[in-house]
Amino acid sequence: MGLAIREKIIILDFGGQYNQLIARRIREAGVYCEILNYAAPIETWRDDGLKGVILTGGPNSVYGENAPRLGREVFELGVPVLGICYGMQLINYLFGGKVESAEVGEYGHTTLFTEDAPLFAGVSRETAVFMNHNDRVSVPPEGFTVDARTDHCPVAAFSDASRGIYGVQFHPEVRHSVEGVKMLRNFAFGICGCAGDYRAEDMIERMVQDIRSAVGDGKVVAGLSGGVDSSVACALAGRALRRDQLTCVFVDHGLLRLNEAEQVMRTYRDNLGLNVVHVDASERFLEALKGVTEPERKRKIIGELFVRVFEEEARKTGADFLLQGTIYPDKIESGMGGSATIKSHHNVGGLPKDSLFKKDHIIEPLSLLFKDEVRAVGEGLGIPHDMVWRQPFPGPGLAVRVIGDITREKLDLLRACDAIYLEELKNAGLSEAIWQSFAVLTGVRTVGCMGDDRTYGYCVGLRAVTSDDAMTVEAAEIPYPVLKKCVSRIIGEVPGVNRVVYDITGKPPGTIEWE
Ligand code: XMP
Repeated sequence: MGLAIREKIIILDFGGQYNQLIARRIREAGVYCEILNYAAPIETWRDDGLKGVILTGGPNSVYGENAPRLGREVFELGVPVLGICYGMQLINYLFGGKVESAEVGEYGHTTLFTEDAPLFAGVSRETAVFMNHNDRVSVPPEGFTVDARTDHCPVAAFSDASRGIYGVQFHPEVRHSVEGVKMLRNFAFGICGCAGDYRAEDMIERMVQDIRSAVGDGKVVAGLSGGVDSSVACALAGRALRRDQLTCVFVDHGLLRLNEAEQVMRTYRDNLGLNVVHVDASERFLEALKGVTEPERKRKIIGELFVRVFEEEARKTGADFLLQGTIYPDKIESGMGGSATIKSHHNVGGLPKDSLFKKDHIIEPLSLLFKDEVRAVGEGLGIPHDMVWRQPFPGPGLAVRVIGDITREKLDLLRACDAIYLEELKNAGLSEAIWQSFAVLTGVRTVGCMGDDRTYGYCVGLRAVTSDDAMTVEAAEIPYPVLKKCVSRIIGEVPGVNRVVYDITGKPPGTIEWE
């Protein structure tokens, strides 16, 4: 079956931090787009559907020795080109303008003063944008008009409409650029002439085709955790492959929530029609984690054991492909693509050197999507609403919610607290509005008094956050009476706990999970 991509915008990647956000904003506008390395040969991406090209930001200076460059061919394809930050400076460089190091670098919010220009149609004449640059255009190329400026940047946007070339020094894709989405839509619709009729189903068809062509007649084991990402990835694979080609493996690592294994298996059996194997590997995981306290070490051990279990299942079926539900933020936090390692997500970069699965046999159909996009794909695939909207649960499970060393007793204690907390949030009708909520067993023990006795018990942390995509979060404002009820139930019903605290840290500076 051919792909139903009627129009697309190609994003050429020069290594900037926000590049996936550009893609996401374009997709949100209903236009299909792909991010490609800036050096991808034009023949590989030019086709009848091509409506425009975006050149992204990047860490280099255009005059740098190893600065990534483009030839002029991209500007001769007959479609408009928009350069963002480095992309704008590159255009400037190629067409004979001058770039200089600004005396004062601009980082963060700044006021943009716009002119009447196609990119700024319907945009206020003074609007807040997000800047992140040292270099800036000092002299635009001949034939270009200056479309916007800031106090520190006399050429904050330029264009040569006759040649269909546009550039902005700021980042319209980030939320801090208040009217940035409007500008990107102006590019996609007003300038490139897109119709915006791209639907999630187009993406589904594309991903299904990609899985099919990667796997051919081969066999796949797929990691299925019960969460939305892996469920969507498996459902896609289920659509792409024959039943005898795909075995989904649900690993019970002993770090699941109360009754989770049974619930998840029931949901899969009843709803997805996939071939699912349930492996109880809890002994192995808990043994390997004995005495381990350092969060990254926990994550690495769990990541490797997951792969070992998948390998064992693969040997049984003769599979040599591994499919995972890795999504884009997992990669960013794990330090892929040049960003700092915040935490190694269990499914990213953990492949042991001697693994049965070769690097190019790892299939991650969702690796460029954000969670809410994954949910849209899940809805498009007809996965039941409750499953698609399940709160995320980390692959390493309660291992990153028991702070310090992990024992069965601590896990049981945490499960009991967590179940009470989730039940009370549900009773209060709060679950739907919350991105994620859970209890944490802190490693701290505190003194208390119950009845007439002294207690020396664990302190439990409660966390609930709101978010769009888990990249940034706010602590949820849970009504005080609900929290009080949770505290009294947890302390009353779970022996060994004598103190409960509520975590109001956002992300940044915190992260969602405590480890
Ligand atoms: P943090 O704690 O980094 O989490 O703010 C962001 C989101 O990712 C989940 N998370 C993980 N998911 N494997 C996963 O599949 C992991 O290793 C992992 N670590 C964190 C976390 O629950 C939140 O939704």
